[in-house]
Formats: sequence, C-alpha cells, structure tokens
Amino acid sequence: YALPSNVQEKELKERVAVVIDVLRASSTIITALHNGCREVIPLIDIEEAINLSKNYERGAFLLGGERNAQKIEGFDLSNSPYEYTRDVVEGRTVLMTTTNGTRAIRKASEAKEVIIGGFLNVGAVAQYIGQRDEDVAFICAGTEGKFSLDDILAVGAMIDALQNMGKPLEMDDLGLVCLQMYSTHKQNLRKVLERTYHYRNLVRAGFESDVDYCIQLNLLPTIPVYREGVIRVLETA
Ligand code: MLT
Repeated sequence: YALPSNVQEKELKERVAVVIDVLRASSTIITALHNGCREVIPLIDIEEAINLSKNYERGAFLLGGERNAQKIEGFDLSNSPYEYTRDVVEGRTVLMTTTNGTRAIRKASEAKEVIIGGFLNVGAVAQYIGQRDEDVAFICAGTEGKFSLDDILAVGAMIDALQNMGKPLEMDDLGLVCLQMYSTHKQNLRKVLERTYHYRNLVRAGFESDVDYCIQLNLLPTIPVYREGVIRVLETA
C-alpha cells in the first residue's frame, strides 16, 4: 500500500481517493447517507445548485451547504450534520455546495474510485481499503485553500486503523506526519482542535457542538462513494 499525500492529478487515475473534510462536509455527507438520503450531489456554486434543483419535483430534493459556515439564503439546510436527520433526508436528493468539501470531491473525480471519509466512518473506510490491493490517495479538503488540522488527524486515524489490521504499509513523509499527529492527540482530539482556525470559525458561527459530533470515531459504518457526479452509499459485499 502506498499512502501518498502530494499526488499529481494524473496519478489519481491509478489510485483510490479518500476525500476528507472532517469539519464538516464529509461528516455531514456520511450522516445524511446513513440516515437514508437517496444521494448527495456535490456542487461548486450556489447558482449551479439552484439551477439543478429545477429538474426535481417539489419535495424530492433539499438544498444544503454553507458559505462562511452559515446556511445559504434560500437553502433548506446548512452544513451542520445535526440537520440531516432521517425524517428530513430519507429518500431525498441533497444538492450540496460548501466552500471546501464539495470542491475537493469534484476535484478527486479522476481517481479510480472516490470515497468520502472522516472520523465517523474511519473503521469502515480502513477495512474497505485494506481489503483492496490498491494505492490510495487521501485528499484533504483543507479550509479556504489552506492546510487544516482536522483532516490531517483523520488521515492519521485511517493509517492507524490500517496498521492495526496488520497490513504492510508504505507511506510518504506527510503520511508519517498524519500518523504521528494522530498518535499524539488521539486521547483528546478536541483539545488540539480548539486551537485551530476552522474550530474558531465554527464556534463564531454557533456550531461548536458540530465539532464534538464530527470527531467521534467509528460512529457510523456508512461509506459514501462518488460516481458520475453523484454520491451514494457504497454497497460492500
Ligand atoms: C466546507 O466544505 O467548506 C466545510 O465543510 C465548511 C464548514 O465547516 O461548513
């Protein structure tokens, strides 16, 4: 297994990509699909989402996402995973646009397969990629184009889970950093995250409790997979 982090776009074709945006897009997508959402369509622009919604029957879709961590005007849902409950999302399509996460997913589309990961499904993702004899690229969404510690810690958690499965791993130096960071902070992820930019931004926006939700390890077994523009639950044999 190779777990590179600085992968060229052309190299993605030969790899399974795991897209991670712990705070909060990937955690929200995992939650929505776990709660019976039919599919999530990741979109770049607000306009793109609104235009696409015109193709759906009333009641069949929801517009979700954020700008500056807040719900977008006229949208049904923000990017808080707590809003994506079963009674709200079951059987519906979510048209979602976020600042970083949905862009990262779209950028990963060249990969052999694109799955969405976070702390919530770390065990399920590690098991799935551990069973495949493929190279993997972890794609961290970051925050506003910058490195974001929450994603790096989740990559470390996945590498840690793969190691615990006894798999022989090869990884690049950034993979080693992720693993080291996770090993150092795994007993209290919240404490180190409190010092980060994205955490402070979410607190300012009134979403502090989302952080506690998103950093729960192995809460859900659901693995979202992105194929042909649509994210659905990966059916594993
Ligand atoms: C994003 O995709 O940009 C993030 O999930 C932002 C947020 O925390 O809502």
